[in-house]
Order: sequence, then C-alpha cells, then structure tokens
Amino acid sequence: MTKIAVSGASGKLGRLVVATLLERGARGVVALSRSPERIAGDGRVERRFADFDDPQSLGVALAGVSRLVLISTDALGADGRRVRQHRTGIAAAERAGVEHVVYTSMLRAETSPLKMMVADHWATEVVLAESGLGHTVLRHAFYDDLARGILARAGASGVFPHAAGAGRVAYVTRRQCALAAAVAVSDGFVGRRRFDITGPEALGMDELAELAGRQRGSAYRAEAVSREELVARLVSGGMPEMQAQVMAMIDVGIATGAMEPASGDFTALTGMQAPSLEL
Ligand SMILES: NC(=O)c1ccc[n+]([C@@H]2O[C@H](COP(=O)([O-])OP(=O)(O)OC[C@H]3O[C@@H](n4cnc5c(N)ncnc54)[C@H](OP(=O)(O)O)[C@@H]3O)[C@@H](O)[C@H]2O)c1
Repeated sequence: MTKIAVSGASGKLGRLVVATLLERGARGVVALSRSPERIAGDGRVERRFADFDDPQSLGVALAGVSRLVLISTDALGADGRRVRQHRTGIAAAERAGVEHVVYTSMLRAETSPLKMMVADHWATEVVLAESGLGHTVLRHAFYDDLARGILARAGASGVFPHAAGAGRVAYVTRRQCALAAAVAVSDGFVGRRRFDITGPEALGMDELAELAGRQRGSAYRAEAVSREELVARLVSGGMPEMQAQVMAMIDVGIATGAMEPASGDFTALTGMQAPSLEL
C-alpha cells in the first residue's frame, strides 16, 4: 500500500494535516514526530519517531513512504539550523525512495521584503529544486493568528496601532493550509508545482478593524504609527522588546506588500473556495 507520511505531526498544522487526510479517507497514513506519543492513538495512523536533527532516525521513519508532507520546522533563527533540518529531511526522503514531497513554504519566498522570515523557505525550495524529488511547494500567507494578535494590541480601547501603512494581508487558516497539503500529497500528481495558499481577499488594517467590529460587535480602529512608535507602544503595553521589534518588522514587511495579493491557487488545487477570515 502507498504510504503517505506527515512530518511534524504533533504540531498545530501537522495534526490538522493528519486529521484532514483521515477525513478524506486516506489509507496508509504515517505520522512522523519527535514525540509520536503525543499523537492521539488512531488505528488508522502509524506513529513513527522522526527528528530532522537526527538523520539516523529518518531511514526507519521513511521506510515504505512514497509521498511526504514536510512541514517546515520552528527552528527560527539566523544560525541556519532550520535549513539544515529541511536539507536532512529531503536527503533522507531521496534515499528512502520517496517520490513526492509537499513542502510548506511562505508567500513570495524569493522576493519577499520579509527576508528574515522567508530566507529559510527559499533556501529549502532551492534544495528541493536541486533534488531528484517530485514536489509541491505550498507558499502560505500569514496564519489568522496574526490578525487576532494585531487586534489584541487595542486592549480595551479598540484602537490598535500598526506600522503596516496601506499594506494588506490575505490571512489563511491552518485548516485551509492542512487541506491544501492533504490534497497535494494524495492527488497522485507527478512532477513539480507551486501554489500560493492565501485567504480569499487581502485586508488592510482599516478593513481588519471594520471586520472585527462586525464580527465581534464592538468598535475597532486602526491607528497608523511609525515603526519606532509601534515598538514603543508595544513595549509600554508589556511586550518584550525583542518580540515588539519582530512585530514591527512584520508590519513594515506588510507595508511593502509581503503578504498580498490574494491568490486563486487554493481553489485551483482543491476545487474549494478559500474560507473568509473569522476573528
Ligand atoms: N505562515 C505563518 O503565519 C506561520 C506562522 C507560524 C509558523 N509557521 C511555520 O509553519 C510551521 C507549522 O506551524 P505550526 O503552527 O504547526 O507550528 P508548531 O505547532 O509550533 O509546530 C512546530 C513544528 O516543527 C516541527 N519540528 C520542530 N523541530 C523539528 C525537528 N527537529 N524535526 C522535525 N520536525 C520538527 C514540529 O514537529 P514535532 O514536534 O511533531 O516533531 C512541529 O510540527 C512552523 O513550524 C513554521 O515553520 C508559519
């Protein structure tokens, strides 16, 4: 039987990919994780230990697997560890005879102004392109968590500061990303392809405020400030300086178009409409 494996299967996205595969009736699902014991027992899923920092674990983990969802790891940082992990996973997949890898990348990986956030993804896409593997690259927009985080800056006032100018974000849900991955890994496609996985529309900060007002029944207003002012306001609200700097960097990236436009690729891949943002 064809085996479909999902790495990072105990993470938020990984769990959803496994669940979506099962919902869609997939057989031979293998959940790979550093903590397979954290994955809920289900007779339909084979749980195997796999750690991209431990190449030896991957031969056994990938035995008999023909298609693999490789979920990008959370080893963020400038030390190159995440790319090494992905490279190790891709090399192991090739050795194990995997035919197709689905990789979760980020929107505009090679051209994004959010260089720090996409560099690992672009480097991984290059490793895949240079491998002999068939592959699907799914470039995700920001998850909807970010929208809720931006709104949370408002506290009780309803007024949230931002440094995103007129930039827009076509937020996605992890469930949508999971569906895209589940379809891509099980549709039998042979070859190489790439999809931008975004929500149905890109929202600016004023539109986000309006949507939040409608959905939550209380008024929100976006207040445009400079990057420095945003950092100061977030820090004075109790956010650690480092995190405030990252949030400000994200806003500035949004201002320069890192997360737009919305794409129709999700529908092209799955045949379904992308869900609207729910706050
Ligand atoms: N587009 C966005 O807005 C956005 C936001 C956040 C994250 N992301 C990216 O999307 C990925 C999934 O997001 P998430 O919310 O599901 O994150 P999460 O719950 O924090 O999960 C982190 C993932 O990294 C995996 N991982 C970490 N170290 C690993 C290693 N050595 N070998 C193999 N896998 C390893 C974990 O797998 P196990 O623990 O099961 O081994 C887990 O699946 C993240 O890892 C990140 O790259 C994107």
